Amino acid sequence: MSFDQIIDRNTYPTLKWRKSQLMEHFGNDEVLPFWVADMDFLAPDVVIDSLRKRVEHGIFGYEYKEERYFDAFVRWYEHRHQWAIGLEHIKFCPSVLNAIAILINQHSEEGDGVIVQPPVFFEFRSAIRSNHRRRIKNPLKVVDGKYQMDFEDLEAKAADPNTKIMIICNPHNPVGRVWTRDELARAGEICRRHNVFVISDEIHGDIVYKPHRYTPIASISEELAHHSATCLSPAKTFNIAGAVDAMAVIANKQYRQQFHDFAHRYQINKTNVFTSAAIEAAYSQGGEWLDELLAYLQSNVDFLRTYLHDNLSQVKLIEPEGTYLVWINFESLGLSTKRLAQFLAQKAGLALNPGYWFGREGAGYARMNIACPQSLLQEAMFRLSYAVRNHL
Ligand SMILES: Cc1ncc(COP(=O)(O)O)c(C=O)c1O
Repeated sequence: MSFDQIIDRNTYPTLKWRKSQLMEHFGNDEVLPFWVADMDFLAPDVVIDSLRKRVEHGIFGYEYKEERYFDAFVRWYEHRHQWAIGLEHIKFCPSVLNAIAILINQHSEEGDGVIVQPPVFFEFRSAIRSNHRRRIKNPLKVVDGKYQMDFEDLEAKAADPNTKIMIICNPHNPVGRVWTRDELARAGEICRRHNVFVISDEIHGDIVYKPHRYTPIASISEELAHHSATCLSPAKTFNIAGAVDAMAVIANKQYRQQFHDFAHRYQINKTNVFTSAAIEAAYSQGGEWLDELLAYLQSNVDFLRTYLHDNLSQVKLIEPEGTYLVWINFESLGLSTKRLAQFLAQKAGLALNPGYWFGREGAGYARMNIACPQSLLQEAMFRLSYAVRNHL
């Protein structure tokens, strides 16, 4: 398969491309979409073949997850990330946000504080608010053009006895940082000292650009593994967000039992025969495809960097270390938050996530999903240059 191939996604009600969605979110249904975090690429052939076979079998009754499913998942992390996940540490639920919501309920009470590091994935805010917890901000800071954690501020926020949880996003959506072992260890140690439980969302862990390396927080130390839960899923890696389960890896036995009880209370325990077929194939045979994908994504990052540098130097790419979501600084266009969003959607004809969606710390920025054929990125850059030249 070629990642250059353009595939019409409108056959199905895709969030990213449907005109009604674009109109609702951008007030313009002619925008070229680079917002929702899925890819415009076909899933790996091995996944499609496995699903086809499963459909052809024709019976879709009750199933359970077999040993080879677990094997595929555990081997993937061992082989690609040198992280040995204990089989008994794995708990399932339908999505990563679902796992995060359960963990929030499990490790805090209504009114308690949950630390996040904005600008950050906006659904964390909704998971915190809808569970009647308080969002405590530990904003990232920019040092020499690079996003960093603010450890002094984290220490102060974690020291409040009402703060019970920290959600770490590793790699970070939207700023693209792949947190180093030292950074994670330091943040984890602060949380441990103040008895703040760590939920680590590592859904983007497979999408990392060389020479950076994804460090699973639970692989750093036994103490940290026992003081955290890691949320994983093959959704981003293999572009199967609509056909996927999520995994919560929980080393602490008591916390694991509590997670199980929570999931049980709401009867979250069914096996979906299609997601099982997709996931087992992806983790057991999808490595080569992922390597090709990473090379293509890297070439898209290179294209964007060069284009902006040569043609639109007022617009700055924050160099991503991981994820296919790039964070772009539009501050020097001098537009207010609202006008920047309008300019991008109405004048440039682009659906990018306005930076303020990720917290007010994101004002002046926008997030662009680059997991698409490069010809679409070229079109986006032409539209942007034209708009900057003619409509500012
Ligand atoms: C950091 C992060 N976590 C979670 C999700 C959503 O995961 P799920 O669809 O499994 O809930 C996304 C999707 O964009 C994400 O970027």
